[in-house]
Amino acid sequence: MGKVYIFDHPLIQHKLSIMRDKSTGAKEFRELLEEISMLMVYEVTRDLPTEETEVETPICKTTTRVLSGKKVGVVPILRAGLGMVDGVLKLIPAARVGHIGLYRDPETLEPVEYYCKLPVDSENRELLVLDPMLATGGSASAAITFLKQRNCHNIRLVNLIAAPEGIERVRKDHPDVNIYVAACDEKLNEHGYIVPGLGDAGDRLFGTK
Ligand code: PRP
Ligand code: URA
Repeated sequence: MGKVYIFDHPLIQHKLSIMRDKSTGAKEFRELLEEISMLMVYEVTRDLPTEETEVETPICKTTTRVLSGKKVGVVPILRAGLGMVDGVLKLIPAARVGHIGLYRDPETLEPVEYYCKLPVDSENRELLVLDPMLATGGSASAAITFLKQRNCHNIRLVNLIAAPEGIERVRKDHPDVNIYVAACDEKLNEHGYIVPGLGDAGDRLFGTK
């Protein structure tokens, strides 16, 4: 069964509290999401394999370690996942970026797919699926199914805030996938919004409401 990691680092929690505040504007919201994504990816990648290499410093030759194994791919779920990409790329600049376009039908809460473009070698990469909100889990689960249909099986899900319902859904549908979140909130409301959450992440990020 996939593991669920909840990051209780003080910096992450502090920045997330500012993001939750409804008076925080789009500019600050965007900057904070980027910063938290960067802090999270530091931990998300903790178990990536490394190998020895030889380096000549100005003083002498030495043996040191570099990343080995699979290269990383980043897959934001449009739109709100876009807000996490730059933070991840700051730490893993060589990562390729794929995009999956999904929106949640406001009536049925079911994900509707409208776009998919992945790097050609995605199946050989360690993929980080990015979306700030894991609510019912429908969007994340559909995105992961989508990747698996394209032969991608090394997948980690990275969310800012999750509802227990969303975590349960992804764990049930994709027991092989680890989930990394900055906070697990109380519940969903009748409109499928996370409580207390931070509202509509896409709208707050892009100033569309
Ligand atoms: C939000 C969010 C997730 C989805 C989560 O996107 O960014 O993708 O809802 O909900 P779920 O877990 O119940 O599927 P939204 O559909 O609002 O689209 P947007 O990113 O384009 O605003
Ligand atoms: N999507 C959001 O942007 N926010 C929520 O609380 C739930 C789904």
